[in-house]
Amino acid sequence: MRFGHFDDQHREYVIERPDTPLPWINYLGNEAYFGIISNTAGGYSFYKDARLRRLTRYRYNNAPLDMGGRYIYLRDDDPHLSGSFDTLRTTPRTWSPSWMPVRRSLDSYECRHGMGYTTIKSELAGIESQTRYFIPLGDNLEIWELTLTNRRSETADLSVFSAVEFALWDANDDATNFQRNYSVGEVEVDCSSSAGGEGVIYHKTEYRERRDHFAYLACSEPLAGFDTDRGAFLGPYRGWDAPQAVEAGQLSGSIAHGWQPIGAQHVKVRLKAGEQKKVIFILGYHENPKDAKFDPPDSQTINKCTVLPIIARYLNADEVEKAFVALRKYWDGLLGKFTVNTPDVHTDRMVNIWNAYQVVITFNMSRSASYFESGIGRGMGFRDSNQDLLGFMHLIPERARERILDLAATQLPTGGAYHQYQPLTKRGNNDVGGNFNDDPLWLVLSVAAYLKETGDWSILDEAVPYDNVPGTEKPLHEHLQRSIQYTLDRLGPHRLPLIGRADWNDCLNLNCFSDTPGQSFQTTTNKEGKVAESVFIAGLFVLAAKEMAVLVESHQSNVEGTPQTFDLQPSTFYLNAASEMEKVVWAAGWDGDWFRRAYDDFGHVLGSKENDEGRIFIEPQGICVMAGLGMEDGRAEKALNSVAEHLATPHGIVLHQPGFTRYYLHLGEISTYPAGYKENAGIFCHTNPWIMIAETMIGRGDKALDYYLRINPSAREELSDVHRCEPYVYAQMIAGKDAPAHGEAKNSWLTGTAAWNYVAITQWILGIQPTYDGLQVAPVIPSAWDGFEAVRNYRGVRYEIKVERRGPGNSIQLEVDGLPIAGTVVPFPPQGTKQVGVLVIVK
Ligand code: GLC
Ligand code: GLC
Repeated sequence: MRFGHFDDQHREYVIERPDTPLPWINYLGNEAYFGIISNTAGGYSFYKDARLRRLTRYRYNNAPLDMGGRYIYLRDDDPHLSGSFDTLRTTPRTWSPSWMPVRRSLDSYECRHGMGYTTIKSELAGIESQTRYFIPLGDNLEIWELTLTNRRSETADLSVFSAVEFALWDANDDATNFQRNYSVGEVEVDCSSSAGGEGVIYHKTEYRERRDHFAYLACSEPLAGFDTDRGAFLGPYRGWDAPQAVEAGQLSGSIAHGWQPIGAQHVKVRLKAGEQKKVIFILGYHENPKDAKFDPPDSQTINKCTVLPIIARYLNADEVEKAFVALRKYWDGLLGKFTVNTPDVHTDRMVNIWNAYQVVITFNMSRSASYFESGIGRGMGFRDSNQDLLGFMHLIPERARERILDLAATQLPTGGAYHQYQPLTKRGNNDVGGNFNDDPLWLVLSVAAYLKETGDWSILDEAVPYDNVPGTEKPLHEHLQRSIQYTLDRLGPHRLPLIGRADWNDCLNLNCFSDTPGQSFQTTTNKEGKVAESVFIAGLFVLAAKEMAVLVESHQSNVEGTPQTFDLQPSTFYLNAASEMEKVVWAAGWDGDWFRRAYDDFGHVLGSKENDEGRIFIEPQGICVMAGLGMEDGRAEKALNSVAEHLATPHGIVLHQPGFTRYYLHLGEISTYPAGYKENAGIFCHTNPWIMIAETMIGRGDKALDYYLRINPSAREELSDVHRCEPYVYAQMIAGKDAPAHGEAKNSWLTGTAAWNYVAITQWILGIQPTYDGLQVAPVIPSAWDGFEAVRNYRGVRYEIKVERRGPGNSIQLEVDGLPIAGTVVPFPPQGTKQVGVLVIVK
C-alpha cells in the first residue's frame, strides 16, 4: 500500500494523505541554519547544533508522536458560525491547513517534499491554502510562504495565526531543568512602526548573559494581535490542537516572563471570491557582535540594526521568489553532477535524486538530528562521517575537504580517535572518548576517495593538530600513517586486531561485561581489552593498507618531487602489512564456509559453526571480500553463497544468524535487543551494500542488483504499510526475520546506508569510479539489462557514458571519443577538454 507517489520531474515525493504510518519528514537548509519538517508541518529548527542552538521546542516520543512545529491556524470569521474545535461539525470554524495539530478532516491535502523545501497544500470549505517552507541560501532563517485562495462564490473573512514554541537554549536543559528554565524566558515585541520591524517577536532568553544570539518571528502583514506566552495563547488545560485564543479569534498581546515563551501572530484577511493573498512568515536566528548586543548600549534592548534589513528583505514576496529560484538552481547544479538513465526506475530515482540528497543530509547531520536522533545525544561520529563522505566527494568537494581536516583534528597522538565530536566546537567528545579500534581506518578510506575525486594532493600536506591541541600540527599524511600504525600496535593473541570498545558494530561489546542497568555499553570497559579480537577490523585493515599502498604510489607518479615532509612509508610497507594480515585472517578468521566475526575475551570464537547463536555475521563477509580476500581461490564466492543461504531475506540481508535469544554478558549490547531488531540480527542496511560490492567483485551483477532492490526505498514504496518509514530515503534498520514485524523500517535518514548504497550502485554496479589515473568505467550489471547511460562530471570534465551489452558477461571494451582504448580507465583528457564521450561495450 502507498501513501503517495514520486514526482521525478520535480524531484519531489508527493504525500497524498496526512496520516502516514509515521511522520514522513524532510530537511530544510544546507549550510548553518537547518530545519526538520514533517508532512504535517511538525519539527524544529536549529543553527548548526541541534542541542546548543535549537530555536524551537520539540518533544520526542510524544503522543501523538509528531506534535509541535511550524503551525498555522485558519479561522473562518463569519459571524454566523459558532463552535470551534469540534472536528465533526460540518461547517468548520477553525482548522490547520497542515492537518496537524487540529486534525480536522480536509477536503484535499497534498504534501510535496522536495530538495530543501516542503510545500503543504490543502483545501477546506472553499478556502485553499498552500504553504511553502524553505531556508534561503546564505541566510539564517526560514520562510513560510502562505498563499490563500478563496474558491467560494462569496467574500471570506479569515484569520490566520502563526505559532512556534521558542527554545533557543540548551535543548538538554530545556527537557530537564525546569526549576531554572521556567524562570529565564524573555521576549521583546517591536511595536514601533518606524524602523520596519513592527510586530516582530524576538526570543531573547539568556541574551542578557552569555548568548549573543536570538531568535525572531516576523510577518509580512500588519498584525491584528500577538501572544508570546504559551499559557495565554493555549489557555489552561488545552493543547496545540485547540488554542483558546484561536477559538476566540483574538490574541491577548501577552508578554512572556519565564514559563514558556512562544511566538504567535494574528493576521486578518478579507478575500473576495476568487481572490488570492500571500502572507509571509519568517523564523530566524541572528548573532550580534558581543560588544554591540544592546541598543542603546546601556539598555537591555536587543540591537536590531543588522537584523532588520534581513527581515525586511525576506518579507518581500519578490525576494522570496528569487530566493526559492536560487535554491532550486543550487540543487539542479548539485544533482546534475551525476545522472543515470537505466532500465530500472528505482535505480534512476535513487541515484539521480533521493539517494544523492540523503548523502548530502547525512553529510550535514551525521547522526545528530532526525525524528529518531534527538539532536541532543550524538554529535558527528568519526567513523560515521568518514563513511558519509564516501558518497559526497563529487557533490561539494570543498566541504568534504574541510570535514576531513576537522575529523583528522580529533585524532589522538596514538592514531586513535574520538568517537564523536561536537559540530559547534569541533572538539572531540570527552564523555564518549575513543578506543573504538576501527575508527581511524575509516579516515584512510575517506582521504583516498577525496584524492581520487579531486586530485587535490595538497590536502596531504595540510597541517592538522592532534586532539585539537595547538602546536601538535602534523601533515595529514602523518595522520594516515598513524591510523594504520594504530592497528599494528594493537594485535591480539591470534595477531588479529584487538577490538577495543567496539568495531563497526557498536553493540558488539566484548570488553564491557556490564551487569548494571544504565551503564553505557560503549564506554564502560571492565576488561583489559588485550584478548578480544575483530576479524572485521582485520578485513578493514587490509582494505585500508592496500589503499595506502596505491595512494603512496600514485602520489609518486602524480606529484612532482616528493616533499621533504612526506614521511609515509613506502608502498611495500603497506602491502606487506596487508598480506601479513591476510595470512592471519586465513589462519584464524576463516571458518570453512565463511569468515568468522571475532574472538571474545575468553578467546572463544564468534561467528562460527561452533556457536549456537551468532554462527555467521554479514560484516566480515562484506569487508573481507571488498579487501580482496579469497578472490583467487573461490573462498570469496563461498562466503557470499553462505550470506545468500543464511542471511538474505526478501527485505534485505540480516546482520547475523541465529539471533541472540538471551543476554550474553560477554557480548554486550548486541544481545540486549530482542532478536531481529537493530544490531541483534536486524537488517542493518548499512552493511548490505558491502555485500552488493562484493558480489560485483566476483562478477555477479544479477545478485548485486537483486540485493540493491531489496532495500531500495523506492522499490519498497508499495510496501509502505509494512515498511512504514519514508519511501524516499534509507532507514538504518529493517526488522529482521526473527522479529514479529519483519520488514518494518526504523531510524530513517541518518545512516551510513545512504553513502554506501550510493557507492555500491554508482561505483560498482554501474561501475563508474574515480581513480588516481582517470575515470574507471567497469559496470557489473544484470544480464537482463541491455545497457544504460550516464553523465558524470569529473574534475571539470563532463563524461557522457553509454553502456551497451553485447554479450552475457562482464568483460569491457572502452571507446573514448570513438577510439578504442585498453583497460577500463578513461585517462585524463588534455587540459581544457570540457567533454568526453565514452562507449562501453559489455560482453
Ligand atoms: C550506528 C552508528 C554507527 C555504527 C552502527 C552499527 O549506525 O552510528 O557508527 O557503526 O550503528 O553499530
Ligand atoms: C546504540 C545503538 C547503536 C549505535 C550506538 C551509538 O548502541 O544501538 O546503533 O551505534 O548507540 O552510540
